[in-house]
Amino acid sequence: MSEEEKDDVQSIQPVGPLKTPEPEKKTGNSKLVWALTGVIIVLAAVLIGVLLFVKNQPQPTRGVIPIKEIADMDPNSANWGVNFPNQYSTLLKTETNNARTTYGGSDPYSKLEQDPRLVQLFAGYGFSKDYNEERGHLKSLEDVRATKRVNDTTPGTCYSCKSANNPGLWKKMGMAEYDKTPFMELGRQITEPIGCANCHDARTMKLVVTNPALDEALKAQGKDWRTFTRQEMRTVVCANCHVEYYFQGEGKYLTFPWAKGTKIEDIVAYYEEANFKDWEHPDSKTPMLKAQHPEYEFYTADSTHYKAGVACADCHMPYVRDGAAKFSSHDVHSPLLNPETACGACHTNTGYVVERVKIIQDSVRATMDATEDALIAAIAAIQKASATSGVDDQLLNEARSLHRQAQMMWDFIAAENSMGFHNPEEALRILAKATDLARQAQLKAIQAAGTTEVLQGSQ
Ligand code: HEC
Ligand code: HEC
Ligand code: HEC
Ligand code: HEC
Repeated sequence: MSEEEKDDVQSIQPVGPLKTPEPEKKTGNSKLVWALTGVIIVLAAVLIGVLLFVKNQPQPTRGVIPIKEIADMDPNSANWGVNFPNQYSTLLKTETNNARTTYGGSDPYSKLEQDPRLVQLFAGYGFSKDYNEERGHLKSLEDVRATKRVNDTTPGTCYSCKSANNPGLWKKMGMAEYDKTPFMELGRQITEPIGCANCHDARTMKLVVTNPALDEALKAQGKDWRTFTRQEMRTVVCANCHVEYYFQGEGKYLTFPWAKGTKIEDIVAYYEEANFKDWEHPDSKTPMLKAQHPEYEFYTADSTHYKAGVACADCHMPYVRDGAAKFSSHDVHSPLLNPETACGACHTNTGYVVERVKIIQDSVRATMDATEDALIAAIAAIQKASATSGVDDQLLNEARSLHRQAQMMWDFIAAENSMGFHNPEEALRILAKATDLARQAQLKAIQAAGTTEVLQGSQ
């Protein structure tokens, strides 16, 4: 918990226990009655005075006294904005931010142009055609509608983390029906980008889990978010969207693969058991898995900050001041664009920690380059082996299985949006393992073909 927040909490603490009065001396009964009546009259007068005073006070700028009644799950953030102008105006900034950082920021550059190996790694899948850097919350709707990955067969499920209409629609239709509805058809009922209703209860303004898939995934682990502390909710609310997920079965039912746990090994084991694939790689014929944006799983895998009790909102929604008002900035973006505010609440030497971010991200990127080379070599070897006469199919399938796991592990770090910063040790551990698995896949392909000729032309 940040210092700012601590004094915020203290300011609403009760004033402390009342003093115990001295024991009353025995005097006449009527005297006591008169004295008590006097006290009551004085107290009543004081109370009326206080009530009049309170009634004539101006509305506070913070707090949840409504000026405008907000309907339950109101998708229109502008309505909420009447009561909370600071939160609303900062949310609006996510529309126009487009600053870029070395590995992040909000400039929607093409990840495929930046790193052409991705085209080979995602061959046969939408991500090989269109894969851009993500941007601010208010861009969510525009961006999902513009991506070339969406077509006539896309299920409505793809809107699940894009719109403030969702909580209301999930309540009205149920999530199963929502997910079954084709993207284009469901789109007619979707008018708003991400907004207040995705994170807050309109009546209490408390942070809430709005996505039924998150509620179900937590339940599957025996957890109930309603029992979580406020600080925990400042991380869990982001898990409504910033997670790994897949579409289960014919109805494309939104599911988080957490039943065995949220570490990458647990997630891979889950998909192995479910025998799930996102697509088949056309060169190696491997049944592949695509990671989405597992910020929550990666961060909570025992990272230094998570273990120290730091929440996503501490870095991405720090407290800011506007005159007398102190509030959480809803202009959620890369903390490298405002490190004094984002890191400065806890770290005195901001320059030093920003430099650490650079060192961490550069080493993760370099390690990831080696993993990508190993994956591409594995794909080439498997492809060549499968074209060799007399190839051992059993060994070839083992090679594919290794490729599948290696690429999912790599993607867990590649698709996560912090270039390793959220959990540096975990990033390097996973990438090392992915590289090893990819090289094992390559070796298996050699064994399957019975010749090192399958290595020709690759590294
Ligand atoms: C200790 C501070 C800190 C915490 C806690 C934290 N982040 Fe981050 N986050 C960062 C930094 C630093 C980056 C890297 C930004 C960059 O490269 O420009 C980042 C990057 C991101 C990005 C990509 C931003 C971009 O500009 O592309 C997303 C999305 C994100 N974090 C979400 C989360 C979520 C969700 C959580 C909680 C599960 C979380 N973060 C926790 C500091 C933090
Ligand atoms: C309702 C779903 C949803 C919730 C809840 C949500 N996000 Fe996001 N977030 C997204 C989507 C979708 C994008 C990408 C939008 C785009 O690229 O158009 C995004 C983008 C971001 C970015 C990148 C912004 C940029 O400028 O590049 C950061 C950082 C981020 N989210 C952090 C958080 C944090 C921290 C939380 C929790 C306090 C959170 N998000 C909660 C869906 C969500
Ligand atoms: C992506 C999730 C998300 C969205 C969208 C969002 N909020 Fe918040 N909001 C938060 C988080 C996280 C906090 C910090 C809560 C805490 O510390 O308990 C917060 C805090 C608040 C608070 C408490 C005071 C403060 O500033 O800390 C108010 C009021 C509030 N938000 C209003 C809004 C309004 C109005 C909107 C829409 C215009 C909105 N929020 C959209 C996540 C969100
Ligand atoms: C809410 C408080 C808080 C915020 C905000 C915060 N940190 Fe930290 N940070 C910590 C704590 C606590 C530690 C652990 C320090 C320790 O145990 O010595 C830490 C450790 C670190 C470390 C050392 C990590 C390690 O593994 O040794 C780095 C680097 C760092 N923070 C960078 C950042 C950056 C960059 C930001 C802003 C984007 C940031 N922090 C924001 C509390 C915070």
